[in-house]
Amino acid sequence: MDIHCQPGGYHTELRNEDVTAGAIYDRAVYIYAMGRMGALNDDMGASVVAYLKKKYQGFRPAKILDMGCSVGHSTLPYVDAYPEAEVHAIDVAAPMLRYAHARAEALGKRVHFSQQNAESTNFRDESFDLIVSHILLHETSAKAVRNIMRECHRLLRKGAMAIHAEVPQYAGMDPYDAFMLDWDTYNNNEPFWGYLHDMDLQQLAVESGFDGVAVVQTMVPSAFEQAKARTRLLQGGDFAGAGQWFLYVVAK
Ligand SMILES: C[S@@+](CC[C@H](N)C(=O)[O-])C[C@H]1O[C@@H](n2cnc3c(N)ncnc32)[C@H](O)[C@@H]1O
Repeated sequence: MDIHCQPGGYHTELRNEDVTAGAIYDRAVYIYAMGRMGALNDDMGASVVAYLKKKYQGFRPAKILDMGCSVGHSTLPYVDAYPEAEVHAIDVAAPMLRYAHARAEALGKRVHFSQQNAESTNFRDESFDLIVSHILLHETSAKAVRNIMRECHRLLRKGAMAIHAEVPQYAGMDPYDAFMLDWDTYNNNEPFWGYLHDMDLQQLAVESGFDGVAVVQTMVPSAFEQAKARTRLLQGGDFAGAGQWFLYVVAK
């Protein structure tokens, strides 16, 4: 599947040590969001960090994993927020990771990038205090999303949590907004987008081994000041930087 209608998707390598897909993604996200994710496109990571700092003030994760990191836009805010933490970031696409590594180094941030499938990683059981993802889940599949949730459960220490930032679920949403958001399912080569946003996430968490009582599904305000003014405006299909993000939080 050429995700986002990009020929070859993000994993294709046209030459040795290719970074093309990463370079395209970096600029394309800025254009797609019309700059409303900030100069470094880091609004999602920064918004999750703001949620954590507010809700879990004493939280000091020693080891953090970002799944489906792409070029690391959302990864870097965790490096700044938790300077003592060992931050890992994985993606299946090598060109994205090469670019991500160069970008992080250029910005002076230390991240351990590795090419791995979030459905089945080589990390040890119960080795992370925090797992995050940002608009990863809708780019997978019904089978993969279950594997990823089970992998989160395996990798988290007891009492630790996973936070998946996403475009909001359709349940309870204005039907016009849901219809407009669904545009990507049919026109942007994102076949799982609509299916995920209709899924029962509570049930998914329980099936993956998490405590159903601890599941949180919430909207959080954008950390990017200029985007905050847009809160509640979904703007039909163009959610990025619309002023708020949907968080799916599960705890072990
Ligand atoms: C929309 S991008 C994620 C954006 C990124 N998290 C951010 O906040 O900037 C989705 C990424 O997920 C990666 N991906 C898709 N399925 C994956 C999987 N099973 N394991 C790891 N990465 C995956 C893709 O290669 C792509 O880079």
